[in-house]
Amino acid sequence: MRSILITGGAGFIGANFVHHMRQAHKDDRLVVLDKLTYAGNLENLSAIEPGEKFKFVKGDITDFDFVDRLFKEEKIDTVAHFAAESHVDRSITGPKAFIDTNINGTFALLEAARKNWADKFEGKRFLHVSTDEVYGSLGDTGLFTEDTPYSPNSPYSASKAGSDHLVRAYHHTYGMPTVTTNCSNNYGPYQFPEKLIPLMVINAFKGKPLPVYGKGLNVRDWLYVEDHCRAIDTVISKGVLGQTYNVGGRNEWKNIDIVRLVCAIVDEMTAKDAALAEKYPFKGKREELINYVKDRPGHDMRYAIDCTKIEKELGWRVRESFETGIKKTIEWYVANQNWWEHILSGEYKNYFDEQYGDRLKG
Ligand code: NAD
Ligand code: DAU
Repeated sequence: MRSILITGGAGFIGANFVHHMRQAHKDDRLVVLDKLTYAGNLENLSAIEPGEKFKFVKGDITDFDFVDRLFKEEKIDTVAHFAAESHVDRSITGPKAFIDTNINGTFALLEAARKNWADKFEGKRFLHVSTDEVYGSLGDTGLFTEDTPYSPNSPYSASKAGSDHLVRAYHHTYGMPTVTTNCSNNYGPYQFPEKLIPLMVINAFKGKPLPVYGKGLNVRDWLYVEDHCRAIDTVISKGVLGQTYNVGGRNEWKNIDIVRLVCAIVDEMTAKDAALAEKYPFKGKREELINYVKDRPGHDMRYAIDCTKIEKELGWRVRESFETGIKKTIEWYVANQNWWEHILSGEYKNYFDEQYGDRLKG
């Protein structure tokens, strides 16, 4: 039985990972540490009962003493480190939080692991969740491999690159049992509606404008979030220490084509379902809502991952096709209207106090 610290477990991928682990490894004890920033939402974890096998702790990964104490008290032997400021646009308007959390927060976690594990690294694992954005931008051809030189272009990707280098250095210098994953764009349930797919889904239903940056020709490689969670689970148990693993969907899409696809699926769903059409009335085709807006400064043109290493060496494979994954995702947003309405109204921020009160505060 492992005692696994999951940082950022109230966010999009972290929460999906908690659900995955609860199903896949029932014996493990999961301790979620999350600051509940604007992106953290305890409603994402409401289906999981706190108890011997699951604990939520509200706290900041940049607080060295607090993180150190938590490692000790909870006897942490495994870390799955998701906590981060994750949105590129926010890093352009306010980079400081990205440097604080992504670099200093990762540093605090590495230090707590170094002190508490005290060179007794057997049975210990530190999995750092990172991004393909550290490699910079591709032209029309080629793929990112684990050997692609780092060339981060946004404050977000630069802060993630900094944290990746710290993780690498702790392995090289102290022998810390680290593994790092660099993943492409995720989509699926619980994604905060500032990111492309949930934003377009919600606006398409509500008949609001669909803001496409620049000409919409930038390319991203989309992966269903559950596939990413299985990859992380695999790398924790089978990854070679000190190594990095690229994770991607072999699924490249131009932004404008994704937005058109979302519009077509929403049109089709409302055409087939009278109740849905009544709830979200719209005349014409939702593509008409597309609104080309000013481009993101420094906007990376294309990301695409070569995931041969994790496939060949660890036996991981994508399971969800994009065709089924995108439909499932849109259906999830329809079935969970309360979830996103709470976010849009700000009500989700009360959930911690209402549901958990003082019981679980860190
Ligand atoms: P998210 O923004 O949805 O969630 C981040 C979580 O971290 C939130 O719950 C937030 O409250 C928490 N957090 C932020 N600052 C904190 C702090 N100082 N202390 C404790 N908790 C804090 O992010 P996400 O999309 O789920 O991404 C998770 C990780 O995966 C990040 O490290 C991100 O860089 C990486 N990643 C994301 C994607 C993607 O497509 N979303 C792809 C590849 C890698
Ligand atoms: O590649 C992995 C990265 O994917 C992760 O590391 C990041 O945490 C995650 O946020 C994501 O970054 P992107 O910038 O690629 O994701 P985003 O959803 O913000 O944007 C996807 C593309 O869509 C990008 O080219 C910008 C464009 N876009 C985005 C928004 C929010 C639009 O055209 N309009 C929009 O309103």
